[in-house]
Amino acid sequence: NTRRNNMDYKQQVVTALSAVLGADLDAETISQLIEQPKSDDLGDYAFPTFALAKVRRMAPPKIAADIVAAIDQTDFDHVVATGAYVNFFLDKVAFAQDTLTAIAEQGEHFGDAQAGSGNVPIDMSSPNIAKPMSMGHLRSTVIGNSLAKILTKVGYTPIKINYLGDWGTQFGKLIVAYKKWGSEADVKADPIKHLLEYYVRFHAEAETQPELDDEARAWFKKLEDGDAEATKLWEWFRGESLKEFKRIYDVLGVDFDSYNGEAFMNDKMDPVIRELQDKHLLKESQGAEIVDLDAYGMNPALIRKSDGATLYMTRDLAAAIYRHDHYDFTQSLYVVGMEQKEHFAQLKAVLLEMGHEWANDIHHIPFGLITANGKKLSTRKGNVILLDKVLQEAVDLAKAQIAAKHPDLENQDEVAQAVGVGAVVFHDLKSERKDSFDFNLEEVVRFEGETGPYVQYTNARAHSILTKAAVQPDATVHLTDANAWPVLKQLAAFPDIVLRAATEYEPSVIAKYALRLAKSFNQYYAHTKVLVDDEELAGRLALVQSVTVVLTAALGLLGVKAPAAM
Ligand code: ARG
Repeated sequence: NTRRNNMDYKQQVVTALSAVLGADLDAETISQLIEQPKSDDLGDYAFPTFALAKVRRMAPPKIAADIVAAIDQTDFDHVVATGAYVNFFLDKVAFAQDTLTAIAEQGEHFGDAQAGSGNVPIDMSSPNIAKPMSMGHLRSTVIGNSLAKILTKVGYTPIKINYLGDWGTQFGKLIVAYKKWGSEADVKADPIKHLLEYYVRFHAEAETQPELDDEARAWFKKLEDGDAEATKLWEWFRGESLKEFKRIYDVLGVDFDSYNGEAFMNDKMDPVIRELQDKHLLKESQGAEIVDLDAYGMNPALIRKSDGATLYMTRDLAAAIYRHDHYDFTQSLYVVGMEQKEHFAQLKAVLLEMGHEWANDIHHIPFGLITANGKKLSTRKGNVILLDKVLQEAVDLAKAQIAAKHPDLENQDEVAQAVGVGAVVFHDLKSERKDSFDFNLEEVVRFEGETGPYVQYTNARAHSILTKAAVQPDATVHLTDANAWPVLKQLAAFPDIVLRAATEYEPSVIAKYALRLAKSFNQYYAHTKVLVDDEELAGRLALVQSVTVVLTAALGLLGVKAPAAM
């Protein structure tokens, strides 16, 4: 009872070809040449013979015909020559049995792998205190959350770090503004709205009253030195903001292993600056201290301003070193927008200059910009998308649809939540990470076509078939139905898909796969009566059950729920 997976099937083809081509091509080359034809008519694997034309001094179609005549076909349904190609058709019954048995036995562990190991800190979400969470932070949150699940499945131990933007000169400004114009009741009622208001007002007034900037600097200095009043205010602003962020994380079903943000690095920067000095890497430039990165073709990294203040870069250096020392990582990921590409390239370069070879294991995982009506979003200019509202709108729409289609469904609110939130998350994850897209609410809360709810609905439909069945699924029953073939091939591809998503850090690989599997199952269901009582019934039910297992797993890797009924 050998369990075969996709790779083994390909290996069968390589072995059979090697036996007849051994003298002309090695197995490695054969393996690289093998293709997976787009159309089922051309078999499951195809071998192009062009590479042999020179050695054999023969036309490729003739070579293909010769190979077919000589090859051992026992492991295959059949092997044929089509033009210059040798097409391999797998034994479908055995393939079905292997695939469905593997899924039945492994359940949610189907597709698990040991592709790597060790701790992998994932810097994700990381919004800024006292400011609204942006669409960029949402992308970082859902991409990071999905990557954590994907990496777990292939053997790693992710550590989700919310590197809050909770430090910097802006907190001096915020304290000054609050003390001048703030109200405790307002902050309690709607913290981010009012804190942002104070901050915006500070900038407006500082234009005509530059002494405000001096006050702000003084207050930030107090904060850095641990002054009681400054610290108390800072803690309060941070706590109130975090409460609001956590509401969104709860709705999305995302949690973090650490909220150590920029402030946490406050007492960890001095040693870094000393190390830079000891290694003669700090240079003076217009009063500021920098690390020259000319050799890398990059702008210098700014480490300390002329007034002694540290910067975003200084804190990220301390954070990178802290993560290395504390987590002993095998990789360290930063899920941050494309616009910070240079920052992370500089970060890595400075660490390498310091002699930290492990910086090569740092990877910036960039993603594209979300615009609205073609314009860049900006909190200052009021061009914002409020996440709360988007999620609420999607959930309301789902609720209305369920009430209309499925009024007797028991846990309607729970399902509406899963569908509405699933729509938003899936929409974000189905386009390639690096693609930018224009935000369109109608598009995001759409439930038909290439959407999360479409996949969820397909899964629920498969569940309902199983509920109606009078017999148990049986993966060992011979399934000869040709309609099942495309579904089986999709199911068997899942382990490879998971690995690809992990190596490319690309959740969209999973999302697109889930759409393909759902589509192929719906096509199957449109052509085949599953619940007919014949000798293949239990086999068809095993297929349907496998679809629920794999769709649920795929959605799970995206952080999307898969309700059994909806
Ligand atoms: N708070 C930053 C921002 O909103 C993102 C932080 C990303 N992480 C990091 N280690 N720099 O732009």
